[in-house]
Amino acid sequence: MSSPDGIKQRGYWGSGLGFVLAVVGSAIGLGNIWRFPTEAGQSGGGAFVLVYIIATFLIGVPVMMAELAVGRRTQRNPVGAYRSLAPGSGWGLAGGFAVFTGLIILSYYSVVAGWTLKYTWIAFSGSLHGATPEAISATFNNFIQDPGPVLGCHLLFMLITIRIVMGGIQHGIERAAKILMPVLFVLLLLLVVRSLTLPGAAEGLSFYLKPDFGMLDVKVILKAVSHAFFSLSLGMGAIITFGSYLSPKQNLVSSAVWVSCADFLIAFLAGLAIFPAIFSVPGLEPDAGPGLIFVVLPNIFNAIPLGHLFGAAFFILLAIAALTSAISMLEVVVAFTIDELGWNRRRSAIAVGSVIFLLGIPSALGNGAVPLFAGTLDFVNEYFGGMGLVLGALLVSLFVGWKWGTGNAVEELERGRGTFRLGQVWGFLIRFVCPLAILTILFQLLRG
Ligand code: PHE
Repeated sequence: MSSPDGIKQRGYWGSGLGFVLAVVGSAIGLGNIWRFPTEAGQSGGGAFVLVYIIATFLIGVPVMMAELAVGRRTQRNPVGAYRSLAPGSGWGLAGGFAVFTGLIILSYYSVVAGWTLKYTWIAFSGSLHGATPEAISATFNNFIQDPGPVLGCHLLFMLITIRIVMGGIQHGIERAAKILMPVLFVLLLLLVVRSLTLPGAAEGLSFYLKPDFGMLDVKVILKAVSHAFFSLSLGMGAIITFGSYLSPKQNLVSSAVWVSCADFLIAFLAGLAIFPAIFSVPGLEPDAGPGLIFVVLPNIFNAIPLGHLFGAAFFILLAIAALTSAISMLEVVVAFTIDELGWNRRRSAIAVGSVIFLLGIPSALGNGAVPLFAGTLDFVNEYFGGMGLVLGALLVSLFVGWKWGTGNAVEELERGRGTFRLGQVWGFLIRFVCPLAILTILFQLLRG
């Protein structure tokens, strides 16, 4: 395995399996189980889902290949990667933008991950066992308005993330996740079965799967496309960074396809679990916002024997899925400070992680605890988790398609696999389809 300069400090994958696990770990997280149902529920259901599916496979998969190719070719963090492929060109700024976006996204991601830690405990303690839907909703509202616990959970989650990135011990976590994620998958399947057999499930199913094209405006399209990037960890350099730790033997094309399929499957199942349940419980609405899964899931757990233990297992696995995603976000910024600023890993993880914790405070307290911060989480989720990633992905596709060149990229994609027969199709998607789709959406948005 190659080990270019500087990579010892940065670390590299011991095996191809470690890499695929890390990318799957990065992709599958709160995006699938928390953000996807929340966004789909606010944007009218089926129409959003349809655009999300198309965007995932038509734009997301090619962009993932592009990021992997850039990362492996340069063996650098996003800033260094852009700079080394286009020296003296100003493209380094695109990398800087990606790193910055990652920093902000992790700040609120950690807040929601903290909620899952709290809910592991709430479920385990049995305090919601047999509770009415109103009581379940009230528990969530009381929790997010109480500054101590929300900050405490945010802090705890960031500390765990920092500890892992600091020690460069993510491989251990990825190995553990390899066993735990299939368990999450099975629990999710059981939830789907229970949810689909609740009275009134059909209405939820049709909300989720039957597109109402009247709902499709440019905002919904933008949200669905940006969510595809969010879910696949694209547009902020996470995949460039992971690709940079990669051996030439790895098949980038099939990795991108498999990771995207797995990621889509988990999100799709999450929707199948959430939407039927919403419509079967009086008082629940699909557009409830960031609290959606926290007020819906406990109702399903209550309809399952030993549901509180089931619920605790589900939330802790969700927290672990969030952790492997958070590691990948922190890693982007840490790799940047190691490569470009010469910091050591330990110092970088602590410093960057602390800054992210502080940046997350308004998101943590903006849900009823401190009026001044009201709406922060929704705002950063929409503008950084949404728009920021769309712009990041636009820059990647323009860079690879028009600056570095699809010829060079295809050459990189062919290392470790042999001829990439769909290389030209891929090149067409990266040069034309991705940028034009994104630019059209942005243009329409500006026109109002
Ligand atoms: N894809 C992750 C999730 O679905 C979130 C993420 C976004 C991770 C961007 C890294 C980069 O939860």
